[in-house]
Amino acid sequence: MTDHWDAIRRHWQLLGSPLCPPAEAVAAYERELGLRSLDVVLLGVTPELAGLGRTLLAVDESAAMISGIWPGDTASRKAVAGNWFELPLANGSADAVIGDGCLSALDSSAARLTLLAEIARVLKPGARAALRAYASPDVADDLQGVRTLALSGGVATFHELKWRIAMSRAAGDPDHAIPVRAILDAFDALFPDREELVSATGWELPVIGTIDAYTNSQTVYSFAPIARLIEEASRWFDDVRMASTGTYGLAERCPLIVLGSPKRL
Ligand SMILES: C[S@@+](CC[C@H](N)C(=O)[O-])C[C@H]1O[C@@H](n2cnc3c(N)ncnc32)[C@H](O)[C@@H]1O
Repeated sequence: MTDHWDAIRRHWQLLGSPLCPPAEAVAAYERELGLRSLDVVLLGVTPELAGLGRTLLAVDESAAMISGIWPGDTASRKAVAGNWFELPLANGSADAVIGDGCLSALDSSAARLTLLAEIARVLKPGARAALRAYASPDVADDLQGVRTLALSGGVATFHELKWRIAMSRAAGDPDHAIPVRAILDAFDALFPDREELVSATGWELPVIGTIDAYTNSQTVYSFAPIARLIEEASRWFDDVRMASTGTYGLAERCPLIVLGSPKRL
């Protein structure tokens, strides 16, 4: 799993929206949680979120990601190695928890529920969390339709295309899970001629090549639909709602899940 993130880290500069949160999505975290006056826990080391909070503690299991993409510790922010399922925090001690794409970095409903339970454990009474999700549509896209959309200029970035393919392929799985290798296989089957995609979209070949980081990966992602994410989150939080993260390509499938009133065991 950490080898996977090391491969992703190597081409991080070529990634973009919606995988990386654009400025309007970063603003949504602040708007929804009022983080400026809070001591915040960040799941992962998403550099775009490193400036949020009065203080910020980032937790990530990948040493390569911490050394490769974290913008560095300061007096007010720090990254530590750790597992999200065992956060290095006492019960009821965090002002706020945030994360970007975290639920999709997990391979099953059980893993998503374990993380939601851990967030509920560490939040102070009255505190809230916000996680930007990658949520599949209720009705899965047809893959040929995704190809047609991309070639006709209807997909904003290569990374949006990657997520559309992933969501379409994950639809058949009960946990909405998909090995990242299968995302690459589906892409290669759909676009055997990458130059054709370059010509039709203007995307750069090295950006398209970022998908090759999935070649030897054993990692499994998941892309549960919004209704499923709400149902899972409601098991650990009495107050669950979705907030928009903007108007960028695929933003409608990338809401912020805002979690309040954590349930205690
Ligand atoms: C925050 S997620 C998603 C990042 C980006 N938005 C994307 O979509 O690719 C990526 C990070 O999660 C970390 N990660 C995944 N599972 C983890 C776990 N169980 N505990 C700690 N870190 C984890 C990985 O090491 C990686 O740095």
